[in-house]
Amino acid sequence: MNQRQFPPSDATTVDVGRPFPCDASVPGPELCIVVPTFNERANIEVLVDRVALALRGIDWEIIFVDDDSRDGTLDIVRRLGLANRRVRGIRRIGRRGLSSAAIEGLLSTSAPFVAVMDGDLQHDETLLPRMLALLKAGATALVIASRYAAGGGADGLSPGRRRLSRAGVRLARWLTKADVRDPVSGFFMLRREVVELVAPRLSGVGTKILIDLLASSPRRLSPIEVPYQFRPRHAGESKLNSLTALEYLLLLAEKFSGHYFSHRFMMFGLVGATGVVVNLAVLRVLLVLRVGPTEAAAAATVTAMVSNFFLNNLLTYRDSRLGGWRAVRGLLSFMAVCCGGALVNVAIFRELYMVTGWWLPAGVAGAVVGALINYSLTQAFTWGSRL
Ligand code: GDD
Ligand code: MN
Repeated sequence: MNQRQFPPSDATTVDVGRPFPCDASVPGPELCIVVPTFNERANIEVLVDRVALALRGIDWEIIFVDDDSRDGTLDIVRRLGLANRRVRGIRRIGRRGLSSAAIEGLLSTSAPFVAVMDGDLQHDETLLPRMLALLKAGATALVIASRYAAGGGADGLSPGRRRLSRAGVRLARWLTKADVRDPVSGFFMLRREVVELVAPRLSGVGTKILIDLLASSPRRLSPIEVPYQFRPRHAGESKLNSLTALEYLLLLAEKFSGHYFSHRFMMFGLVGATGVVVNLAVLRVLLVLRVGPTEAAAAATVTAMVSNFFLNNLLTYRDSRLGGWRAVRGLLSFMAVCCGGALVNVAIFRELYMVTGWWLPAGVAGAVVGALINYSLTQAFTWGSRL
């Protein structure tokens, strides 16, 4: 028999609206700071100390959302959490992504005010009380700490990154029509109600969680920006790489297609297009080398499948990438599914062609249905969630 009872037996008469008799003296915090982390071991303690200093007199908590860092980031969080209930941690396994980690943290708290902040001390924590005061005064539902508002600065970015960041800002402003100076800021605070409202519409792809929020909100958010100086990193190195720009473009494309095309499906389609090129290139080379047509076509198809699998693992599913033996198993299931997709493709083409006599529409219909089958089945079986 299950011995665990919840709520505890002495609290079975608790109603909504009445305090828990078991531990009535500790209400939840007013402000929650969500910090996505990946290999930030050397920054955690300093960050918690500085936040604690900045937030004296405010009831706060900090939640580190860690993607199973190998450097023991979460061990530090757990140790601090044992000593101080303001410090919490979420461990995500087999997943990667700054935005999705931030969303998960934002949805894990009951605090009425929530902030997102980097874990490497580039964001100025002394701004937090002012940001909270603006929200509490009802001046706005979203406060953005801004590098590009008057008085702010981005000296902590390298010149190359600064140029890229400014280009990203211009693109976002143009597309969202939002009058925000720093829509790619990773540091902002908002009312939790807004998060709850917007969460089901978020894409969660990449690192630009603020753009995601601004573009997904059914209500105009009219944020207030407070300027700050973006500092150099305290310890460790940036986790952002060349894929970040691609993720950003996919996020914008998903948002501005009105979620009609998911970022993943678009990437899968792009990879599929490269597969056609690989297939034709290998076919051509083998035919020139006088390999028989059947063998050449078979080899070209297999090569394209293998290259599609690895590109999808690298790009389309970069947030849940398969490694080691999982990648081998994934490749096999990917190839099995793609063979199924190819058979359906051929069957549809043949039927439509026989009925209509039009090769092009029949070919396109077969290819599209085959691709949709490949996409949905490989999403479920090859890259399906592990937890
Ligand atoms: N959980 C999780 N998963 N956290 C991550 C991941 C991830 O895949 N990638 C990065 N982080 C965490 C880092 O550990 C750090 O705490 C924070 O997210 C920011 O990552 P950095 O690697 O320091 O990013 P950055 O400084 O290059 O970029 C920052 O500035 C940009 C504006 O120029 C970020 O705040 C971006 O979001 C922001 O757009
Ligand atoms: Mn950083």
